[in-house]
Amino acid sequence: MQYSEKVMDHFMNPRNVGEIENADASGTVGNAKCGDIMKVTLKIENGVVVDAKFKTFGCGSAIATSSMATEMIKGKTLDEALRLTNKAVAEALDGLPPIKMHCSLLAEQAVKSALQEYFIKNNLLTDENRHFFDKLDEDAHDAG
Ligand code: FES
Repeated sequence: MQYSEKVMDHFMNPRNVGEIENADASGTVGNAKCGDIMKVTLKIENGVVVDAKFKTFGCGSAIATSSMATEMIKGKTLDEALRLTNKAVAEALDGLPPIKMHCSLLAEQAVKSALQEYFIKNNLLTDENRHFFDKLDEDAHDAG
């Protein structure tokens, strides 16, 4: 069996599908090679991600990882949300086939892109936290 039960579950019953109205931040990313696109919207109150939703036009792993990534940041402080990694998302899903790891990177990038918008808008970027956004420049198709 190539996909874990958790991947199948989050693909068949994705959590947090949709778009938050009047979101405090949103981020859209795409992968040029597979053509998949993800949009993440966030509601942020008092430094806490109180809600997260996603819309993914993409493969099953892209849907499962965006579902899990939004679950993992809900209720977390901005500081904790910044520490989300695609590896943690893949692990929470009990793993992904190597060829599908880039899908989890796309999910991380969608979350980071929304957070980056919020950090820039609210002047929260510092020399200490800037590096959390480095992965936005990575080519998601090369992710191992
Ligand atoms: Fe590209 Fe899944 S095949 S995100």
